[in-house]
Amino acid sequence: MKITIIGTGYVGLVTGACLAEIGNDVFCLDVDPRKIDILNAGGVPIHEPGLQELIARNRAAGRIQFSTDVAASVAHGDIQFIAVGTPPDEDGSADLQYVLAAARAIGTHMTGFKVVVDKSTVPVGTAARVQAAIREALASRGVAASFSVVSNPEFLKEGAAVDDFMRPDRIVIGCDDDALGQKARELVKRLYAPFNRNHERTLYMDVRSAEFTKYAANAMLATRISFMNELANLADCVGADIEAVRRGIGSDPRIGYDFLYSGCGYGGSCFPKDVQALIRTADENAQRLHILEAVEAVNENQKQILVRKIVKRLGDDLGGKRFAVWGLAFKPNTDDMRAAPSRPIIAELLARGASIVAHDPVSMDEARRVFALDFADQPDALARISYVDEPRKALAGADALVIVTEWKAFKSPDFAYVKAQLKTPVIFDGRNLYDPSSVAEHGIEYFGIGRSESA
Ligand code: NAD
Ligand code: UGA
Repeated sequence: MKITIIGTGYVGLVTGACLAEIGNDVFCLDVDPRKIDILNAGGVPIHEPGLQELIARNRAAGRIQFSTDVAASVAHGDIQFIAVGTPPDEDGSADLQYVLAAARAIGTHMTGFKVVVDKSTVPVGTAARVQAAIREALASRGVAASFSVVSNPEFLKEGAAVDDFMRPDRIVIGCDDDALGQKARELVKRLYAPFNRNHERTLYMDVRSAEFTKYAANAMLATRISFMNELANLADCVGADIEAVRRGIGSDPRIGYDFLYSGCGYGGSCFPKDVQALIRTADENAQRLHILEAVEAVNENQKQILVRKIVKRLGDDLGGKRFAVWGLAFKPNTDDMRAAPSRPIIAELLARGASIVAHDPVSMDEARRVFALDFADQPDALARISYVDEPRKALAGADALVIVTEWKAFKSPDFAYVKAQLKTPVIFDGRNLYDPSSVAEHGIEYFGIGRSESA
């Protein structure tokens, strides 16, 4: 099938590459010429395991192309995916300017029937706005081409995006009930048929429910994390180990093991913004989502939990202290720094006078870029962040080690070496990577999240 993907970011690029892999003819459009140039030069603008090989293979086979040419992209696909960003607006609601610009682009260039698929995460009612924007653009040209807007939210996780897309738990398709909606449904059904593997994974529903499903899923996952973080903080007070508790409750199949890891807060481009956007949607409907408001507040608090433990152990004034920081990306296996907990943690340590020597296996270039923006008006603070290309190099002469992201490379360090390098042999672990007693055996003080230690 001929597919156009509007927006070649994390979701658009993975969607395009995976749809090409199963034999479709894919055209990826982006307004950012830098991204398109990188892709056309054989590179990949993001770090995502398996993506580079997938793109290279499909480019070589002529099944995927990248361009900034809007007219050509709209002409190409019978199915037009909208996969542009929906960042938070100032009030927390989803900013739909990119989605509506994509819709207008489709309406401005289409000449025949198109299925328009909203893959971006968008508030309930957005498909109707996309439809109106396309209609308006068509009317201004005096063209009467038909189309239908389908909601097909994406559930992939960064760092496992290719696998999640290729082996989805479910595929949610929201379609209109009318004849065009049914025609669209048949096309999208055909497109996704190869992903059903051994049983049907596609869930058909109305457009609004599909849009809502995406927010409900992210809100539920964020809720589990904040719930566990709150319990972890209590476990610290009462002398319980949240890791034992996690195993104890996760073994109940009604609860399950996933997304019960406490830590230094959830980050990324989705949970924070989607929780906020759903709260705003409720607001607009004169409702309160009390639980989600608490989920967000707990997460804001949790992003400072490591700093509080550091201050409690090392004192309020961190002037002249140096911290080795392992992990900057919001989670392992990605270079994404959007809403990464490392940002507020490092900002607070710098504000208290500390300096930072950081290492991340893949996100250091991106970290340099975002920290330069975060501290654009504080050159003195920015100058106190430096980067090293190996985790062990961050340790020499540091006052303590702070772990923010659970990269595999950090899971089994040489603790004797860590102890020898640190001025104060102490680890503040925001991802509960180690068994507290075995770290203690090496003569290192260890502060995790909810592991019942004193700080
Ligand atoms: P992103 O910022 O990585 O990519 C968006 C791309 O769209 C950018 O490259 C941007 O230049 C491009 N763009 C903006 N306006 C455009 C236009 N008019 N025409 C063509 N290109 C345009 O964003 P992302 O992380 O891929 O997220 C996209 C959407 O998918 C969001 O709504 C997000 O919530 C949702 N989502 C993201 C993930 C994820 O893991 N990142 C997972 C599921 C859903
Ligand atoms: C999340 C969802 O998992 C995806 O299903 C969804 O498609 C995506 O958002 C989206 O809508 O964009 P992602 O943000 O890539 O995916 O990463 P997650 O693995 O969900 O992690 C998000 C944050 O939660 C990370 O900071 C991670 O460290 C944190 N987390 C995760 C915990 O603190 N504890 C856990 O148990 C799990």
